[in-house]
Amino acid sequence: MKAPLLLLAAAVALALVVFFSDPGRANIAPPAASASAPAPASPQQAAAGQLVLERCGTCHSLDRLAEHRQGRAGWENTMRTMAQLGASWAPNEQPVILNYLVQHFGPR
Ligand code: HEC
Repeated sequence: MKAPLLLLAAAVALALVVFFSDPGRANIAPPAASASAPAPASPQQAAAGQLVLERCGTCHSLDRLAEHRQGRAGWENTMRTMAQLGASWAPNEQPVILNYLVQHFGPR
């Protein structure tokens, strides 16, 4: 009696076809690595953010910056004060940091 065996094989084949052709499966992608962090607008923005974290986040948290929203002149002033307190950055980093501060912690 081969019929039950054939039926079983057919059922397995059908199950495989259904499984692999299920369009819903394509949507089950592994979660993106950066699912928790908002995607930076551009690689430059991400680099600037990293720079600010390195230059401004060592003595105090960056919450300090968020609490101190201000315009460009204000941030220029703060950066001068921070330099006096011991913060340092390369001359070419100055405008990158300043722009990031104004963009992300500007006045509301
Ligand atoms: C060398 C350590 C150091 C670094 C690096 C540093 N800060 Fe500060 N920052 C301080 C100190 C000290 C204070 C004063 C804390 C206080 O008064 O409570 C401060 C306070 C601040 C404040 C609050 C100012 C106020 O009037 O209350 C802001 C805003 C700030 N820092 C921004 C920055 C930014 C932007 C950077 C990067 C460019 C930076 N800090 C890097 C040490 C640092």
